[in-house]
Amino acid sequence: HGIQRRLILRSARRGDLLSRLSIDPAVAADPFPSYDLLRAQGPLVGNGFIHGTATHAVGDEILRSDAFGTGGGHAELPGPLRRLHDRIADPDALGPVDPPSMLVVDPPHHTRLRKQVARAFTARRVGRMADRVESVAGSLLDALEGDADFDLVERYASLLPVAVIADLLGVPERDHRRLLELGNQAAVTLDPALTWRQYQRAEAALRDMHRWFADHVSRLARDPGEDLLSQLLLLEGTDRLTRTELHQVGLLVLGAGFETTVNLIGNAVALLDGHPDQLRWLQDNPDGWPNAVEEVLRHQSPVQMTMRAALRDVEVAGVHLAQGEAALVFLGGANRDPDVFSDPERFDVTRTNAADHLGFAAGVHFCLGASLARLEAAVALRTLYERHPGLRIAGRTERRGTRVLRGFERLPVSTSAGT
Ligand code: HEM
Repeated sequence: HGIQRRLILRSARRGDLLSRLSIDPAVAADPFPSYDLLRAQGPLVGNGFIHGTATHAVGDEILRSDAFGTGGGHAELPGPLRRLHDRIADPDALGPVDPPSMLVVDPPHHTRLRKQVARAFTARRVGRMADRVESVAGSLLDALEGDADFDLVERYASLLPVAVIADLLGVPERDHRRLLELGNQAAVTLDPALTWRQYQRAEAALRDMHRWFADHVSRLARDPGEDLLSQLLLLEGTDRLTRTELHQVGLLVLGAGFETTVNLIGNAVALLDGHPDQLRWLQDNPDGWPNAVEEVLRHQSPVQMTMRAALRDVEVAGVHLAQGEAALVFLGGANRDPDVFSDPERFDVTRTNAADHLGFAAGVHFCLGASLARLEAAVALRTLYERHPGLRIAGRTERRGTRVLRGFERLPVSTSAGT
């Protein structure tokens, strides 16, 4: 995280398109025209140390290439990456995108961590969560009965993912609110270019979070349950995770699985509000929800970008990258690439290749929670519109100020507006 932030800040001083795309909040509010401009400049555009792509083919190639690593976990990397890496040392202030978080370490360390954590996300286990997701969605809607107007993010979109993650992490119901607060704070730290004040607040929040996880893990060690963390605590021998690794798993699941899913549900409601004909079609054809979720992931990707660093000298799309140089992959731009998606600006829940998006990335770091997120969003949306067929946005919406993550802070809705 520190590495990404500093590299991007440094290149941003040059003020070019690539840098503005990564740090300028005004560009982040509507990055899509800038992605088009970047794509028009070439498949991989460089400004010295940093390169960027908004094309599907090159984004996919970089994410799948073993010539690239995540740029976070490379004690062996030379140059600036190595020096910055040395500064990220305090285990009580590590964020969800600091090593040893699996998101930012490379094989073979990554392979070992991912294998253990993946046990919680097998198709069978996710399938078994379906009933629970349905019943949480149902009780959240029950609790809203009688309220014709409410904030969809606060009262629905954020509460469903937090309940699912609480199950995964073995957090009891009484601590859900605390987990929600921690989740909101964790998401901030995914941003590559925080101001110094934001950074200080994020660091204080991370210290709180590590203290909370330390207590929580000690409780699970005494009284293990069926959850992911308890299972990881039971591993033995070379499979065993260190306490720091274990905390990072908790933090990552919270940081990567919470706000992303909130944003997916919120982005979907906002898009469908602008396309009432497609919403009506889905209400008549509920089997269409899973594809509609893919189209939301493509059109308004909750994760707009990620970064990789060259592990060795490499050539991509005719551009030479020296070892240690960085490549920003604009997932949200790849998902609007006209070479793959015809009329890419158009939102179309029946688009046949919507699922070819890179919204969950690709390669070894492909989102581990993808099938869970798909399940949560499809259930959340179908149930919401079954209960409130006339639900419409009513009032001023507010976007989140984050750049990596794209979503809404506030989505005031009225259940009686459209009836
Ligand atoms: C990784 C997106 C939901 C857990 C990723 C990555 C993306 C992503 C783009 C890869 C980042 C990179 O390669 O740099 C999303 C989106 C979600 C979502 C858009 C919801 C709409 C979830 C959920 C969970 C989860 C619900 C778990 C509860 C993870 C984990 C990784 C990951 C553990 C790291 C995988 C690895 O490094 O091997 N996610 N995610 N995500 N996601 Fe998700």
